[in-house]
Amino acid sequence: MIISASTDYRAAAKRKLPPFLFHYIDGGAYAEYTMRRNVDDLSSVALRQRVLRNMSELTLETQLFDETLSMPVALAPVGLCGMFARRGEVQAAQAAAAKGIPFTLSTVSVCPIEEVAPAINRPMWFQLYVLKDRGFMKNALERAKAAGVKTLVFTVDMPTPGARYRDAHSGMSGERAALRRMLQAMTHPAWAWDVGLMGKPHDLGNISTYRGHPTGLEDYIGWLANNFDPSISWKDLEWIRDFWEGPMIIKGILDPDDARDAVRFGADGIVVSNHGGRQLDGVLSSARAMPEIADAVKGDLKILADSGIRTGLDVVRMIALGADTVLLGRAFIYALATGGAAGVTNLLNLIEKEMRVAMVLTGAKSVSEISRDLLVPQAGSVIG
Ligand SMILES: Cc1cc2nc3c(=O)[nH]c(=O)nc-3n(C[C@H](O)[C@H](O)[C@H](O)COP(=O)(O)O)c2cc1C
Repeated sequence: MIISASTDYRAAAKRKLPPFLFHYIDGGAYAEYTMRRNVDDLSSVALRQRVLRNMSELTLETQLFDETLSMPVALAPVGLCGMFARRGEVQAAQAAAAKGIPFTLSTVSVCPIEEVAPAINRPMWFQLYVLKDRGFMKNALERAKAAGVKTLVFTVDMPTPGARYRDAHSGMSGERAALRRMLQAMTHPAWAWDVGLMGKPHDLGNISTYRGHPTGLEDYIGWLANNFDPSISWKDLEWIRDFWEGPMIIKGILDPDDARDAVRFGADGIVVSNHGGRQLDGVLSSARAMPEIADAVKGDLKILADSGIRTGLDVVRMIALGADTVLLGRAFIYALATGGAAGVTNLLNLIEKEMRVAMVLTGAKSVSEISRDLLVPQAGSVIG
């Protein structure tokens, strides 16, 4: 049954990837309630159908900071993309650039900044985690700047990692994980050849470059676990604000008070996000958190949002709830794992088509016309 492109890509990715990788992508924190609510709450938002409004002229083009986006969509930072497809970060970045939208390189990517940035013809975005090793953070920022990155996405919802029990079950972590991963690779020969063998090296490019020696998967889990910094506060971000000349986006805001703090701090944007339900299970879905946040800070900074966006209709819903632009997470990863750059290109084309249909049938001729007026309040829904 075809429900959406990302449903199909998810099923295909499940077949193609060794289970430890599929579940690393697909899973969330604890009992995964928030992860499911992200999708359910968003899809329950009812659009208001309008007809006979001459919708022949329609544009999706969006201005964000000093960039023009062909549609109000960017690819979210996702660690380890180079494990899902051969040199996966390069492939995803190329598909995004060809479509005219930003790609965000994760701190914990397989391909380093220096490999991805020159492979595309538009500046990529770079995502940084708050880590105890400030030397690494400074080094990464300097390298991103040197590679032409203008927009920094600063992820703040991981002062400590949420427990992802699926990872222990699947062999991503836990007892005899290395052996289990090897056995899984052997039973997925297409992946083993294309990515496991031809996609090497599989170390974490940005961290290896800093440390001067390869940082493998085992090493990565240990390094990250020791490096998350629960002591972080807005004050610690000031040196980055001073150092970074381009737009700075704070990712992981879910509360209107934190959004107001981001405005006071001088952030250029926020990402309303619960990390795709991968951190604190039980928090609000992004869709449900969005209206109050938009009421608090819309217009003071750019509001980006992710978590649960799977279709072009979801993009329109999230923008109607208050976002200026959205980020795709799992939706693009499933496509990348299935079909590499071509998969991501196909997904982005479908998302664009779905957005166009939603805009024609709700009477929005441009992204700026997508507002809460396009939604029908319903009991039990995000806007009741
Ligand atoms: C496999 C995976 C890896 C991720 N890695 C990162 C990361 O390195 N940095 C980050 O800020 N967010 C990371 N995220 C969170 C995404 O940027 C985004 O917030 C999330 O995927 C959105 O939810 P969705 O997948 O439901 O769309 C990751 C998400 C997934 C699924």
